[in-house]
Amino acid sequence: MNDKINVAVVGATGAVGREMMNILEERNFPINKLKLFATEKSKGKRFTVQGQEYIVDTIKPGSFKDIDIALFSIGSTPSKEIAPRAAQEGAVVIDNSNAFRMDDEVPLVVPEINMDAAGEHNGIIANPNCSTIQMVLALKPIYEKAGIKRLIISTYQAVSGTGKAAIDELEKQVKAYVNDKELKSEVYPHQIAFNVLPHIDIFYDNGYTKEELKMERETKKILNDDNLGITATAARIPVFYGHAESLNIEMEEEIGINEIKEILDETQGVEVVDDPENSVYPLPIDSENNDQVMVGRIRKDFSIDKGINMWVVANNLRKGAALNAVQIAEELS
Ligand SMILES: NC(=O)c1ccc[n+]([C@@H]2O[C@H](COP(=O)([O-])OP(=O)(O)OC[C@H]3O[C@@H](n4cnc5c(N)ncnc54)[C@H](OP(=O)(O)O)[C@@H]3O)[C@@H](O)[C@H]2O)c1
Repeated sequence: MNDKINVAVVGATGAVGREMMNILEERNFPINKLKLFATEKSKGKRFTVQGQEYIVDTIKPGSFKDIDIALFSIGSTPSKEIAPRAAQEGAVVIDNSNAFRMDDEVPLVVPEINMDAAGEHNGIIANPNCSTIQMVLALKPIYEKAGIKRLIISTYQAVSGTGKAAIDELEKQVKAYVNDKELKSEVYPHQIAFNVLPHIDIFYDNGYTKEELKMERETKKILNDDNLGITATAARIPVFYGHAESLNIEMEEEIGINEIKEILDETQGVEVVDDPENSVYPLPIDSENNDQVMVGRIRKDFSIDKGINMWVVANNLRKGAALNAVQIAEELS
């Protein structure tokens, strides 16, 4: 690729798209040309990136002909239709939706773990689900050192994971509550303010939600291990930014807590935040200004042999989506 790259941000007005532009700017990504796309309703909106103003447009045939890398965050249904067209027009698409993640032809990439897989792309590379990215980053060094037999996951996920409309809904509900007004729920089936919903994405007949199954399937694909036992419960909590996860890990080999802390500390993209005596542990609030995946509450599970528990927090819009995508773009360029 050239020294300077022609980039498209597709879904620029959304929660992830906005963060994409922040990250391109913060990391001084070598932009030659930048195009911003969204729907008709956003046409004409203006954003400044690296000191230059850009105007949001709609996608037309030929929109991607001069684009090297297209960062997509528009949801599965439109991605399925538009991303292959963008790839045909010559762009490498890095897609944040669920549309292509489990497609055998599409690499599912966390750069710190399996950037080599990206080399096999056919024009589309998938970004894993936000809750999967932070989890696999924390799991990979343990998986390599001790092997993992079984994983029990409980998530506590921020509303920004649903998108901009959900951020607005939580804010409106909190304001309505303190002003003694009626709370309206449009994005979620129940009030999210001061509540916890054990429901992320659609339910399947087997009782699991799509989010829970995404975590299972994507983790197996990224670690290239279909024998991993994984079960998940995903919950939405009234937090704006930062997903938290409780992980119960049954390992193949015994490994000490101190050693786990050491190998996690040495892992790129991971930071151990674990001093419970001083009330130091990973918090979603701290993920707003921290791009590392924070791991704490690392302790032995005394109920099984070779078991540990830990608490993992990361910024879902950044490492869970936009940052991961831009890191892939950096590696490709
Ligand atoms: N939020 C997260 O933490 C997160 C993490 C990982 C992955 N993702 C995935 O990233 C995608 C976007 O999520 P989000 O949270 O940013 O959602 P969002 O805030 O609702 O934003 C959606 C964006 O897509 C645009 N869009 C929708 N349909 C389009 C179309 N047909 N053509 C062009 N643009 C279109 C919207 O434009 P308008 O503003 O004009 O409607 C908006 O810019 C989803 O697939 C989501 O699952 C999100």
